[in-house]
Amino acid sequence: MIGRLNHVAIAVGDIAKASKLYRDTLGAEVSGVVPQPDHGVNTVFITLPNTKIELLEPLGANSPIAKFLERNPDGGIHHICYEVDDILDARDKLKAEGARVLGDGNPRIGAHGKPVLFLHPKDFCGTLVEIEQA
Ligand code: CO
Repeated sequence: MIGRLNHVAIAVGDIAKASKLYRDTLGAEVSGVVPQPDHGVNTVFITLPNTKIELLEPLGANSPIAKFLERNPDGGIHHICYEVDDILDARDKLKAEGARVLGDGNPRIGAHGKPVLFLHPKDFCGTLVEIEQA
């Protein structure tokens, strides 16, 4: 059911510092900072030949990644995102298999303007999984 790895999201406390690390030390193609106030994060997109890395920094008082950074002050892998052809079909199959879909179960528009859903990390090897309509 799942297709390509769309991105790996890494939560960071200082997105400028993390951008510099990826640009200068790792030599990657790094975007500018894109604020996503609807999602409570600032994002930077790093384009690799086969996938993307997204840096996430808290934005605003109720950022969904604030608690994660409290537990992981150096930052860390926050979630991975797989592409699916049909997100509603994928959701229904996952629910039928007993997986928990976070939120109200309806896809939201994610950072790339496409519908996304998040799946409970306890159901997926301790990893928060995002699925995105390809
Ligand atoms: Co994501």
